[in-house]
Amino acid sequence: MTEISRVTRSKDEAKANYDKISRWYDFIEGVWEKKATEAGLAKLAVKEGERVFEIGFGTGHSLVALAKSVGASGKVCGIDISSRMFDITSARVRAGGLKARVELMLGDAVELPYENDFFDGVFMSFSLELFDIPEIPMVLGECKRVLKKGGRICIISLSKAGGPCLMRELYEWGHKRFPRFLDCRPIFVREALKGVGFQCCDINTPTVLRMPVEIVLAINPD
Ligand SMILES: C[S@@+](CC[C@H](N)C(=O)[O-])C[C@H]1O[C@@H](n2cnc3c(N)ncnc32)[C@H](O)[C@@H]1O
Repeated sequence: MTEISRVTRSKDEAKANYDKISRWYDFIEGVWEKKATEAGLAKLAVKEGERVFEIGFGTGHSLVALAKSVGASGKVCGIDISSRMFDITSARVRAGGLKARVELMLGDAVELPYENDFFDGVFMSFSLELFDIPEIPMVLGECKRVLKKGGRICIISLSKAGGPCLMRELYEWGHKRFPRFLDCRPIFVREALKGVGFQCCDINTPTVLRMPVEIVLAINPD
């Protein structure tokens, strides 16, 4: 198994980068990521009345979809490190008339200010691969802690799984060369989830920009 790359940019650099690209992020999201994100939302299959959490909500399209799925009796909480992403998503939530069922937070997702066994579901779309190697089990451990027993987590991420892939090698070269700008990089999603005790139960591996992506649904057995 080949090693995954380190993330060498700082959190302040991540924040500055996502603040800067927030205005045109919808283009990236709409063109490349939308299909995979929608497939992940379908896998998580959020029901009315549930409490759901999204990490790295970006411009808020999935967060709004989750808020519609939980209905007026449910709740969606989200965290993002970028204040501009926070503002765009807040405006989208207000415009959708969903403010009463949504709670947004600005911050780093390595520590979550929620009690144990709080959420029915956790959603992460193209955000787990932004955390450095030691942080991935920390973030997933926090997700497991705040999820109820039997709670679901759906992760969509660039993937290092499978055979050689030229496009992925080129991308990883770019990640090492421009770590502040290309801060995502492919990771092993299933192994990361299993490593903190999740049970993976539904996995898809489509491609985005000819690079493998894992869409993994897992359950918290504890
Ligand atoms: C690649 S974007 C994905 C956005 C959205 N999930 C989507 O699929 O369109 C990653 C998002 O994660 C946020 N992010 C990056 N590092 C973070 C951290 N340490 N904690 C919380 N959010 C973070 C960024 O600000 C950005 O909005």
